[in-house]
Amino acid sequence: MSMSPRPPIPSFIPESAPFTLEQRTWLNGLFAGLFGLEAGATPLSSAEVAKLIPGLVDAAAAPSTAPAEADDGAPWHDPAMALAERMKLAEGKALPRRFMAAMAQQDCGQCGYNCKDYADALFVKSEKRLNLCVPGGKETSRMLKSLYQEIDGIPAAAAVPAQAQSKPAPAVAPGRSRDNPVYATFLSRRRLNKPGSEKETWHIDIDLADSGLDYVVGDSFGIFPANHSDLVGAVLAALHAPADFPIGGRTLREELTDGVSLSPAPDMLFHLISYLTGGERKLKAKRLAAGDDPDGDATALDVLAALYKFSGIRPDPEAFIESLEPLQPRLYSISSSPKSDPGRVSLTVDAVRYEVAKRMRFGVCSTFLGGRVSPGDKLRVYVQRAQHFALPDDPQKPIIMIGPGTGIAPFRAFLQERQATKAPGRNWLFFGHQRSAYDFFYQDEFLAMRAAGLLTRLTLAWSRDDKEKVYVQHRMREVGRDFWSWLNDGAHVYVCGDALRMAKDVETALLDIIAEHGGCRPAEAAAFLAEMKAKGRYQTDVY
Ligand SMILES: Cc1cc2nc3c(=O)[nH]c(=O)nc-3n(C[C@H](O)[C@H](O)[C@H](O)COP(=O)(O)OP(=O)(O)OC[C@H]3O[C@@H](n4cnc5c(N)ncnc54)[C@H](O)[C@@H]3O)c2cc1C
Ligand SMILES: NC(=O)c1ccc[n+]([C@@H]2O[C@H](COP(=O)([O-])OP(=O)(O)OC[C@H]3O[C@@H](n4cnc5c(N)ncnc54)[C@H](OP(=O)(O)O)[C@@H]3O)[C@@H](O)[C@H]2O)c1
Repeated sequence: MSMSPRPPIPSFIPESAPFTLEQRTWLNGLFAGLFGLEAGATPLSSAEVAKLIPGLVDAAAAPSTAPAEADDGAPWHDPAMALAERMKLAEGKALPRRFMAAMAQQDCGQCGYNCKDYADALFVKSEKRLNLCVPGGKETSRMLKSLYQEIDGIPAAAAVPAQAQSKPAPAVAPGRSRDNPVYATFLSRRRLNKPGSEKETWHIDIDLADSGLDYVVGDSFGIFPANHSDLVGAVLAALHAPADFPIGGRTLREELTDGVSLSPAPDMLFHLISYLTGGERKLKAKRLAAGDDPDGDATALDVLAALYKFSGIRPDPEAFIESLEPLQPRLYSISSSPKSDPGRVSLTVDAVRYEVAKRMRFGVCSTFLGGRVSPGDKLRVYVQRAQHFALPDDPQKPIIMIGPGTGIAPFRAFLQERQATKAPGRNWLFFGHQRSAYDFFYQDEFLAMRAAGLLTRLTLAWSRDDKEKVYVQHRMREVGRDFWSWLNDGAHVYVCGDALRMAKDVETALLDIIAEHGGCRPAEAAAFLAEMKAKGRYQTDVY
């Protein structure tokens, strides 16, 4: 009887990892069993290995998991791609990869990680919270829940080492992470749009004096908001529960104010409602909890709308609070330089207000900053260090900044920094917004910078001044030859703002400029851009 040859054990451990041949062979076997993967699968990075077996590899010595690394084995790493498509691309991949595909792919840092690291942390169970991906919303957390159930289905013999499962979160200094915020003082707000604008965008100043915080340009600022008191009042009324009902040392009103998110209504709330209702209503609540949309109104259901839809229920206030998601902090790109304005931080915040089903809805944090906090109020805050968004080390290097709308924020900071440090490199800013008459944020500052020669070029795109929309990428194409010449001179390119449409369109325009003015084929242009990314010459801060 002939035996079929034993398939080679695939190599998951990079040659560069600090193991003997014997250790590497043993670990490759372990991971082959752990992930149930075939030969030819993407090898794990040293950082992944370090996370899985912290005792064997010094995590600090492992290379960082930059987004570029996530890109090469992650074809789903595109914020504009729908979840179903992302999951399809990740089909058959190792569980951590499928976890990653479930994320919103923005690497926005709101969860405290980039997408790949959050996925890895969930897989090794050093992070247990499945609801941190704010841009991914309910569909991401539903998918994570379903994938999470697969972790324990991994054959016991290949279980994740115990020390990896119980790895404690690293200690972070106060104010350096969403898990350890500090207090800072709200100073002021000033509207950046002129009367007549359709937008409501605020310049916000915050005093860091007593917070112990510092920052560098490119960092983002995290803020824990509070829900609107009218919304809290309406939820209390719909619950028919006393505002001072005690819950774990706090009152129901306090929990509703800054403990839980009141939008959108989570699956768990519909589960709770299904226990409190009968007949048709019970069935509907169950279907909503499962992600169905029986009445075609699921996207309009914030917590209050859900209570109205199932009016008359009297949930136990504690069970009700338990069924809601925690209120998450929001991040804002810092729009000041500490060298220009020491002890303070500035933000540029677009207030989110919109109407659904005849009721005004308010973005919780942007309207908190844009209306509900007063000078002197204390805010719970933290600084989120930028991982891959920084000025070039060499101050001589030219920079090109593309930031429509609130995407301008970090570039005001960059320009202030280049001014304060007298950096000799040339600076080119592309800014765009709806109307030149109303929406030219920081107009006086930028015009003064241009007059002073700091801002070498200022290129503007107004989308609603004329019949035809003009966006920043249209302007880029118009000046493609000069753009290419700056690239040839070693310019670093930065993009900030909308992740879903703008960032993609700007990247396409950049590729076209490289191809047209660099006289190369699309594949060569893509390789040129990939090299720019790898060298940190193309950086994005998108959300
Ligand atoms: C790294 C980073 C940097 C950022 N920098 C900035 C910045 O500089 N400036 C800035 O303004 N924002 C910035 N943001 C976005 C910011 O964090 C918040 O997401 C934003 O302020 C909205 O939060 P919110 O709490 O006000 O709204 P939420 O309460 O979170 O409500 C927003 C949600 O409302 C819904 N919604 C919004 N508009 C509509 C509509 N018209 N119709 C129906 N539904 C709608 C959408 O589901 C949306 O996700 C940044 C985000 C990240 C991750
Ligand atoms: N989570 C949230 O609720 C929230 C809150 C604030 C901001 N954001 C995101 O952050 C982005 C920034 O918001 P913002 O208010 O500062 O400005 P914005 O809405 O992005 O608008 C800025 C400018 O960009 C234009 N624009 C629209 N689509 C574009 C595209 N594909 N390419 C290039 N430019 C485009 C807009 O034009 P037109 O509008 O005339 O088409 C406008 O002139 C938003 O797009 C949004 O996605 C999200």
